[in-house]
Amino acid sequence: MILVSGAGGALGRLVAGELAGEPAVHDGVVLGTRTPRSAAERRVDFDDPSSLDFTGIDTLVLISAGYGEDDVVIARHDAAIGAAEQAGVRHVVYTSLSGDGDHLPYALAHRWTERRLQGSRLDWTILRNGLYAEFLAGIAAPDRTA
Ligand SMILES: NC(=O)c1ccc[n+]([C@@H]2O[C@H](COP(=O)([O-])OP(=O)(O)OC[C@H]3O[C@@H](n4cnc5c(N)ncnc54)[C@H](OP(=O)(O)O)[C@@H]3O)[C@@H](O)[C@H]2O)c1
Repeated sequence: MILVSGAGGALGRLVAGELAGEPAVHDGVVLGTRTPRSAAERRVDFDDPSSLDFTGIDTLVLISAGYGEDDVVIARHDAAIGAAEQAGVRHVVYTSLSGDGDHLPYALAHRWTERRLQGSRLDWTILRNGLYAEFLAGIAAPDRTA
């Protein structure tokens, strides 16, 4: 069974859509989000330990929970990985940041999470994603409030 966290976000929705189209895994995907909108979705909030029961999950696709201070994001990712360890999850797939992004302010939390996984007994896959096109378009757009 695969659980995708952050399934309500832009990337999470795309990942969930791709998995839904894979016959081999279609029936074995759980969508985790802070705000479930259907019975097919499960509440997963890294800020709420009571929502982090990964019993029966074999692979956790951990969509990074960014847009916070480093200590907040790190605590979220630590909570998710700790819950995965406790539940006996075998493999964590983490959406990290390209090595070219080391100078960016939010690289710290990504690199911390990578080390946390590498120091664990979990199998891990670290996806060093480049900057998302939507993100670049957002920061290049005119500030309508100025
Ligand atoms: N590589 C890049 O260019 C780039 C740029 C910006 C951000 N990022 C990172 O990539 C992630 C996904 O990007 P996106 O465009 O899909 O972002 P988005 O649409 O703004 O969605 C935010 C994501 O963060 C998750 N999240 C926030 N707080 C959480 C919490 N307490 N527990 C669990 N999940 C939490 C949300 O999950 P739910 O809403 O489903 O609960 C959602 O998947 C971001 O969160 C950020 O860490 C990467």
